[in-house]
Order: sequence, then structure tokens, then C-alpha cells
Amino acid sequence: MPRVTYIQADGQSQEVNLEAGSSLMQGAVDNMIDGIVAECGGSCSCATCHCYIDADWIDRVEPAEEMETDLLDCVSEPKDNSRLSCQVKVSDDLDGLVVHLPTTQF
Ligand code: FES
Repeated sequence: MPRVTYIQADGQSQEVNLEAGSSLMQGAVDNMIDGIVAECGGSCSCATCHCYIDADWIDRVEPAEEMETDLLDCVSEPKDNSRLSCQVKVSDDLDGLVVHLPTTQF
């Protein structure tokens, strides 16, 4: 089971084990991690699951597809490592992944 660390904007962190194949968004929701709203439930239409992949991991995560990159234009505080967490599936290769959360979601 891949272990993922979610770090809030204020520095608080939570480590959780996720099922391989689940999304970072689902892992956050299932573990009641603040900062991921996920209004659309993972259908890549709300952009309220914005997160930042830690710089040490960005090259190991599958790149975003066009639909996601288009929606990322709508998030506040976009960065080069911005992703929609509903579109990032975890695998055993991502065991230890670190994800940062933005100050706001809208
Ligand atoms: S949950 Fe809506 S875009 Fe990710």
C-alpha cells in the first residue's frame, strides 16, 4: 500500500496509506484531510482538489492530460507542480509520495 504524506499550507502533515489505483483526492477524502474539497467527485470538472506534487516526486508522477491542464488554469495560486489530485493515481512506485495543499480551494 503506497504511503502518501499530505502537507497543509501551515505545515501540518498527515501520512496515510492508500490503495494502489486510488487517486490522491480519494485518499484525502477517505482520510478526512482538510484542504481537498472535490466538489465534482473526481470527474475533472471543479478544480477544488488542487494540490502540489513535492519537487522530489514531480518526475515520477504521470503527467497531466489536456483536460486537467485546461482546468488547472482556473485554480488560485497555480505553480509548475500543480495537479488536480483526482487525476493522480497512486501506485506502489509512488510509495512515500509527498503532496502539498494550497491555502485555499475554489
Ligand atoms: S474533484 Fe473535481 S476536479 Fe478533481
